[in-house]
Formats: sequence, structure tokens, C-alpha cells
Amino acid sequence: MHWHILGAGAIGLLWAAKLKQAGHRVTLILHTPEKLAQYVEADGFSLTDGATTERFNPPAQLAAHQTPITHLLITTKSFAVIDAFTAVRSRLVKNARLWLLHNGMGPQQQLTTANPQLEVWAGSTTDGAYFDAPWHLIRAGTGTTQIGRLSNSGNDDLFEALSKVDNQLSLATDMTSVLWRKLAINCAINPLTALYNCRNGELLKYTDRRAAMAQLCKEVDEVAHALGITLFERKLMEQAWDVAELTADNYSSMQQDISHQRPTEIETITGYFCAKADQAHIATPANHLVLEAIRNMSKGNGHD
Ligand SMILES: NC(=O)c1ccc[n+]([C@@H]2O[C@H](COP(=O)([O-])OP(=O)(O)OC[C@H]3O[C@@H](n4cnc5c(N)ncnc54)[C@H](OP(=O)(O)O)[C@@H]3O)[C@@H](O)[C@H]2O)c1
Repeated sequence: MHWHILGAGAIGLLWAAKLKQAGHRVTLILHTPEKLAQYVEADGFSLTDGATTERFNPPAQLAAHQTPITHLLITTKSFAVIDAFTAVRSRLVKNARLWLLHNGMGPQQQLTTANPQLEVWAGSTTDGAYFDAPWHLIRAGTGTTQIGRLSNSGNDDLFEALSKVDNQLSLATDMTSVLWRKLAINCAINPLTALYNCRNGELLKYTDRRAAMAQLCKEVDEVAHALGITLFERKLMEQAWDVAELTADNYSSMQQDISHQRPTEIETITGYFCAKADQAHIATPANHLVLEAIRNMSKGNGHD
């Protein structure tokens, strides 16, 4: 398969490496001419996984390039997905496969509805990667990735091919529920860690933080139940508590985005949840409160 990867950040380059190692063709689609020049200058990127560092040098291009795209993996942050997709849309062949691997919800559903001719897949991953220098990627942990088809068209061939690339990949028959479960955990943990500027585990240490988390979880449970979405066999608070405990020393991506003054994924996490609750006429004051608080912090950081 020839994969074009749109969003050559931590997750995009991690998958570029995995696909190359498994023998697939990979082309990176970079954001700006400056980024492309830096990539050419760096002569590719490196990935350090434990004691091993490997170099990769897949070709890179801009969205305006003319070659057709058969397999497109989008790994931008969720707020950039629609614009990134729009820039390459005309290059997609009929029946192209589109795989969206990002946090949050909204873009996956929007692109599936707007492009019925495409085979659209979504993913949810616990892989971890970050840059310690430009174009030098560190694999922080080997996680699991679930993927599932959102479009009616297509078959499971894509999963069969990708399962040979990553043996921690599994096929979800109900991907929407998988995305909701991840969304629910993110709603419970991410905004609060950003607001309290703390690690995940520090949410559990103080009565007021635990109470805020419990309130968010209660609202998410109520809305999911009303929408007929099965989250977990137990209450979200119990599940989120375990996740916060297991990842106690980690800073959430939203805490990091706020502290580094980058745009956050709040609109596709709590924002998506609140919009669904509003449509169902269910009041979710605690989630609306943290949504507004994170929006205000983002505005303070210069992001609308
Ligand atoms: N990193 C992790 O460990 C991890 C783990 C689980 C899930 N995730 C999720 O995976 C997604 C990606 O995260 P990440 O950490 O890989 O983010 P990232 O490192 O910020 O990478 C995103 C990349 O997308 C690029 N981009 C943005 N708009 C673009 C456009 N229009 N055209 C082409 N490229 C564009 C960015 O380029 P510029 O920098 O030039 O804008 C950046 O290189 C997020 O939803 C995140 O929450 C990440």
C-alpha cells in the first residue's frame, strides 16, 4: 500500500516508521514550505525506541502536490483535521481509504457523512511518542490501537493489512462506542488537569478535585445513557479513577497544550460532548463550566 500521512507530528511519524518497517510506501504531506525545507535539511527523521535509534527518510511534499492518493492517514490534532483534509481532497482517488487517528470526536463523523464514496476508518490509540528535538522522535510507550470502519462502504481488508504492521492493533466492530469511551475518559481528566495545572494522579489527591471529576463523570454517564451509548460496565468515575491512578505521573495532552500556550483539543472533547448533551436537552453545567474555563485560558494564550 502507498500511504500518504497528513500531520507529520509525533503520532504521524510513529506510524510512518511502523509502515516503512513493514514494507509499505510512505509519503509525508507537510504543513508549510518552511517545514518541508527543514525536513529536507534534516534528511528525514529518527525514531528512538528503547536503546535503538533508526533513521527514516520517506519522501515529503506539500498538500498542493498533484499525485493521486489511495490511502490517507490523518494524524493532525483534531482541530486541524478538516482543513488538512480539505487541502488534499481533490487528490483522493475514487474509493480512497481515509484513516483518522486523533483524539476527540466530530471530524470523524463529519468526514464520513460528507464523503460517502470514501472508505473511512477511525482509530483510538494509547501509543505514546514525543520529540526531544526537531525530527527526533522518542517512543514513550508501546500502546494498543483500536481501529474500526465508520463508512458503510468497504470491507476489513485494511485492518488485515495494518494488523501485520502493528501486532497491538485490534479491530473494533463498534468504533463509535470506542471513540465515546475515550471521549468520556478525556472529558473526566483532561480539562481538570489543565485547569489545576497538575498531573493526572493529582486529581485524586484533593477533595475538591475529586468532587469536580465526579460531577463531570455523572453528567457524561447520564448523556451516554440517554443516547443509548454503552460506556463501561461500571460508573465512569470508577473507570476514570483507575486511569488517573495508572497514569498518575503523566501530564495530559491538554495540560501540556495549555502550559505550552498551544491550541487545545477541548472543542472536540468537552465541546463535542456538550453539543450532544444540548441537542438531547440534557443540562451539563459542570462540563459547560470547564469548557468555558479552558476556552478562556486558550484566549489568554492567544488562541480562539
Ligand atoms: N503524541 C502522543 O503520544 C499521542 C498519544 C495518543 C493520542 N494522540 C493524539 O494524536 C493526535 C496527534 O497528536 P501528536 O502528538 O502527533 O500531535 P503533533 O505532534 O502536534 O502533530 C500534529 C502534526 O500535524 C501537523 N499539521 C497541522 N495542520 C496541518 C495541515 N493542515 N497539514 C499538514 N500537517 C498539519 C502539525 O504541523 P505544525 O506543527 O507545522 O502545525 C504537526 O506536525 C492528537 O489528536 C493527539 O491527541 C497523541
